[in-house]
Amino acid sequence: MTSTTVLFSPVEADLQLLTENLKKLVGARHPILYAAAEHLFSTKGKRLRPAIVLLISRATMPKQEITPKHRRLAEITEMIHTASLVHDDVVDESEVRRGVPTVHSLFSNRIAVLAGDFLFAQSSWYLANLDNLEVVKLLSQVIMDLAEGEIQQGLYQFDVNLSFEAYLEKSYCKTASLIANSSKAAAVISGVSAEIAQDMYYYGRCIGLAFQIVDDILDFTGSTESLGKPAGSDLRSGNLTAPVLFALEEKPSLEVAIEREFAEEGDIEEAIALIKETKAIERTRELAASYAKKAADHLQCLPPCDSREALINLADYVLSRLY
Ligand code: IPE
Ligand code: IPE
Ligand code: MG
Ligand code: MG
Repeated sequence: MTSTTVLFSPVEADLQLLTENLKKLVGARHPILYAAAEHLFSTKGKRLRPAIVLLISRATMPKQEITPKHRRLAEITEMIHTASLVHDDVVDESEVRRGVPTVHSLFSNRIAVLAGDFLFAQSSWYLANLDNLEVVKLLSQVIMDLAEGEIQQGLYQFDVNLSFEAYLEKSYCKTASLIANSSKAAAVISGVSAEIAQDMYYYGRCIGLAFQIVDDILDFTGSTESLGKPAGSDLRSGNLTAPVLFALEEKPSLEVAIEREFAEEGDIEEAIALIKETKAIERTRELAASYAKKAADHLQCLPPCDSREALINLADYVLSRLY
């Protein structure tokens, strides 16, 4: 697997600064909320989203020089992402995140809900202070989409009639919207043409979908240790993702166990074994690869530079997480 250190090298110094700034920005008034937020920012994730924002910022600016507003946008993006994870872990009842206990399991659901709200609220404040209405609209849409995505996922639990379109729509809302809209916002701050800004949106959208589809495969094939979060939890909780949808086409009998919500002993193990007998994982991987390829196609409008190169390689990195 390509390491993110090599991949993100054009913005490594920027990411260093971002990490320091995030801790300063999330200076909560209440010590418990601060402890909850700190807990997450001190055990940093992959920082994929701010890296994309910073790389697009550099690639769309003359001489690749970025402004304080670009930096702030990258910070806001990671703040929104982290807030969504704190809430997602409550909804999914997940015990581990980024290799450490989740906020709700360490403190309580109440604290986690408040800490997530607090991060969303802070991100909105910093967003408004960018003084750019178009950027405010792009990122506000993301916060709506995140809530919408969680609701859609809840509505379709254990529903074997879930369509592929609905699955992709949910994946867009939960994951791709943030990457797409923050990518476009970076271009808007750079002041490039509307066409280039829209290409950045599509780049983020495709990368985001590829990333979520890969995450859905890893939930089947990865280990809790390597992921830093529980593996094998999607199917168990009735969250039917691409591998299950493809497997259902090949083996319709799979729906029996899903519809009774794995109530009988051995149901879940048999379902997983059945899925692994099909071509579902392979087909899902091909789907992710097609989105990753589409993502790279949207970068042709940018002038060649090391940031653009990194954005192209990032599409491969997303897929390389599977190996
Ligand atoms: C987790 O995102 C949520 C998904 C979209 C699958 P990441 O895998 O980017 O999480 P961190 O930030 O690295 O922890
Ligand atoms: C990813 O959803 C998107 C968000 C967390 C908002 P998942 O439910 O697949 O994320 P993980 O697997 O818990 O990281
Ligand atoms: Mg989850
Ligand atoms: Mg997941």
